[in-house]
Amino acid sequence: MLGCLTKVLVISLVGFFSLRPVEIVAADFKQEVIYQIVIDRFYDGDASNNDPPQSAGLYDPERKNWRAYWGGDLAGIQQRMSYLAGLGVTAIWISPPVDNVNVRKTSEDFVAPYHGYHARDFKTIEEHFGDASNSWKAFDDLVAAAHQSGIKVIVDFAPNHSGPITTDENGALYDRGVFLGSYDQDVNKYFHHNPSLSDANDRYQVQYYNLFDLADIDQENPVMDAYLKAAAQEFQRHGVDGFRLDGIKHLTAGWTDTLVNSIFSFGDSFLFGEWYLENVYENPLVWDYALGNSIYSLGKETLFRESYPGNISDPLYPDAQRLANRTGISLLNFPLNTAMRDVFGSDADFSAIDSVLTSEAEDFTSDGDLVNFIDNHDLPRFLSIKANNNRLHQALALVMTSRGIPCIYYGTEQYLHNDTQGGSDPYNRPMMTSFETTSTAYQLINKLSSLRHNNPAIPYGSMTRRWMSGDVYIYERTFSGSVVLVAINKNETSATRIQHLNTTLPPGTYSDYLGGLLTGSAITVGSENGQNWIADLTVAPHSVSVWQFAADQGGPEIGSIGPIKGQPGVRVTIGGRNFGATPGSVNFGATPAPIVSWSPTRIVCTTPSIENGIYEVTVANWNQVSNRIQYTVLTAKLVPVTFTVHNVATRPGEYIFITGNTVELGRWAETWDGAIGPMLSPQYSSRVLTVSAPASQTIRFKFIKIAANGTVTWRASQDHEYTVPASGTGQVDLNLQN
Ligand code: NOJ
Repeated sequence: MLGCLTKVLVISLVGFFSLRPVEIVAADFKQEVIYQIVIDRFYDGDASNNDPPQSAGLYDPERKNWRAYWGGDLAGIQQRMSYLAGLGVTAIWISPPVDNVNVRKTSEDFVAPYHGYHARDFKTIEEHFGDASNSWKAFDDLVAAAHQSGIKVIVDFAPNHSGPITTDENGALYDRGVFLGSYDQDVNKYFHHNPSLSDANDRYQVQYYNLFDLADIDQENPVMDAYLKAAAQEFQRHGVDGFRLDGIKHLTAGWTDTLVNSIFSFGDSFLFGEWYLENVYENPLVWDYALGNSIYSLGKETLFRESYPGNISDPLYPDAQRLANRTGISLLNFPLNTAMRDVFGSDADFSAIDSVLTSEAEDFTSDGDLVNFIDNHDLPRFLSIKANNNRLHQALALVMTSRGIPCIYYGTEQYLHNDTQGGSDPYNRPMMTSFETTSTAYQLINKLSSLRHNNPAIPYGSMTRRWMSGDVYIYERTFSGSVVLVAINKNETSATRIQHLNTTLPPGTYSDYLGGLLTGSAITVGSENGQNWIADLTVAPHSVSVWQFAADQGGPEIGSIGPIKGQPGVRVTIGGRNFGATPGSVNFGATPAPIVSWSPTRIVCTTPSIENGIYEVTVANWNQVSNRIQYTVLTAKLVPVTFTVHNVATRPGEYIFITGNTVELGRWAETWDGAIGPMLSPQYSSRVLTVSAPASQTIRFKFIKIAANGTVTWRASQDHEYTVPASGTGQVDLNLQN
């Protein structure tokens, strides 16, 4: 675990100056409050990097051209660290800081990659954000300052593509300044050469075609595989605590799984992905994703223009859900985002939110890890769709107290918005103008962040609806005897009176945890026949009340495990309550795991050396045993293996899957969720699929055909055998007569 050692070292060097060194464990992120920053638009802390020589002319000192660099940088974020700590933020997610293309797009208006999504070198830092040598210095200083303030750092990592093929750089990639290849000089086949994606429901296109005009990297090319994984590791070495994985629907799930495994094999981390859901119905706001970042050629913009983000009925939603459940990556919660914008931003009933939360609780193994947000850099800011601060406060309160990890888009706490063109990209990325700490939104986030740290019902608890109407939503979070009850009324004028509301809060009187900040009130809880209830509750117009009880006793209870799988030796973090001050044991099935560290609320252990499979993990102390949580012990480190089969015949609605003998291959499962697939169809009679397979193992596998309704319609008569390489990437090419 060289990575962990390095990280400890980084922290302890930093810790020399530190008041409150950050806890290095990142795999349990449920207690965090994330703050999303577009580096260029936050704060200019170093004027010397505004117009660097290698990419001169991409900076607009007047900040009138919304597609130019405006001067924000890593030093600027560092200088605003106490503002962030005061807000209650415990993690920052920064836009991609890596070196981006240096030239303007030739054929169109001025555009600059100020957003960071057009990488040219994944291993150096962009000169506009750091210094003209593309060194890591400003990045290291930022991480050190953040950790000193108890704030973790998440980087946005975009391995799907490099820059646009429509600039003179032509998607060129460098490894610490050394040229690797470009899209038009691709002798080593580092890129896929397909048209731009035109059908967002075609799995092969989504994964293998260019996203707009961005050079689509072939992650299964052994050089690219090693390069991208080494780049992620470089960030880990420089102390980052997590990754936001850009555009994961455009990567193969098999390769993504190996990236996740590579990151966790190096050190612990928190990973969440952007699986953009779309293609459902017309967006009344004309969401300008395609023009986003302003590099996409005309014509392609129509592709996403009429789509509406974040709907559970997106045909690829099940793929997103399976990826999260299988890899342990969390996802940005687009369905909840859509529902919240409908409920608070227009007139939808609270049932829209409630139904998303209910389906996600069924669909996701770790629904408490989903990252919830109101706005981001691809959507119009909330106040651009609804100019009403009360509604923004209510949405914020929901994000901060509902199940999942909250993520606040920079400036929300300052009511920052620009409504040009409906506030869509790039007008959703204004420069931060105020760093006042007095706004209601700032206070609200601060208070609810402390609640998150002080009451485990928020990070770990289940979520139960207690009462709901079109305008009022009352829900309860409970974990290990701790309770938080929240009542929101979004109606501007009418109060709602509720008689006899059941709760699990113990009998007593509770003041509003927000101290009336959002006109909340106190309650008294009574009890009869073992049932606790509030006799008479009036929920005032446009109010949010939060009542809470933090239990301080009870047996061990697990609320979180991260990662959700790993080979023997991979570090595992378990979060929860009442583990005890002195170590007991953590058992994977019947096997105790080696303990790395132990506290009453958090245990770190390593995956024991046991046979691959799915295990129930429990914590035991003082003869008390906790609840169970699942963990998959892998056979070995994961390596991407691409299977190609020819001579395949399927009828519409039938799909080829792979199933095999190890846990990685589904242990001969024959279901959509258990087997590996579906294989994708580049051409009529062939199928392709990248699978994450255990290194150096001889695996046995076969092909099956599963219909859309789940029925197995065919099983290959023959088992195949293949020895997975110890490292790099593997290829299997077979003829399939069926
Ligand atoms: C999604 C990002 O959020 C968006 O801003 C970016 O342009 C695309 N991925 C491509 O990287």
